[in-house]
Amino acid sequence: MDHVHHGKSSETFLDSEEILAELNLKGDETFMDAGCGDGHIAIKAIERYLPEGTVYAVDAYDESIKELNDYINKNNFENLIAVEADITKAIPGVEEDSVDVALMVNVFHGFTSGNRDDVIDEFARILKYGGRMAIIDFKPLEMSWGPPTDIRYSPDELEKIFDNHNFRKVYLNDDIGAEIPQGKSHYLIIFEKE
Ligand SMILES: C[S@@+](CC[C@H](N)C(=O)[O-])C[C@H]1O[C@@H](n2cnc3c(N)ncnc32)[C@H](O)[C@@H]1O
Repeated sequence: MDHVHHGKSSETFLDSEEILAELNLKGDETFMDAGCGDGHIAIKAIERYLPEGTVYAVDAYDESIKELNDYINKNNFENLIAVEADITKAIPGVEEDSVDVALMVNVFHGFTSGNRDDVIDEFARILKYGGRMAIIDFKPLEMSWGPPTDIRYSPDELEKIFDNHNFRKVYLNDDIGAEIPQGKSHYLIIFEKE
């Protein structure tokens, strides 16, 4: 696997409430947190935003999925489904055209020109037409933390890459995350599958 940041979580510098509120969920959708890490966003989603929905929490790191499954069993979350999968390949058990909203938080920067198209193809498969792909990631600015600046994508670059897969940009918020000297550390960009 090219890119696995074992067990890292953005919980300390990204507000999961703010992220989920931005997605305008109705409450009965099928949602996926892809590269979910410890699953803190997926758990908040099922608890607060999707009482009638289904949440898939997907990660390639087996320990994260094992711990999340323990948490799910302890708390009887019937509609939170943890899936161990490498999203550069395939997400087993998820039907085509079945997901309303997919989210990747601090994951996409790890994909290169060699595998990012495979990732987008897999989301093109599982998302419904009109479904949304939301990406939160580090701005390509010099910062004292986060992944190397040269591997980060700007929103404009993502727009071009997703456009090639028939995803159209429908939203950009470039003012989220932690305070940095240049403003805020992250952006949220949302694409719709056409
Ligand atoms: C920086 S962490 C972010 C975790 C979580 N999204 C958050 O914001 O707290 C990146 C996560 O992506 C997962 N990941 C990286 N590459 C992956 C892949 N190819 N398939 C599935 N998960 C992957 C890692 O295992 C890790 O949990």
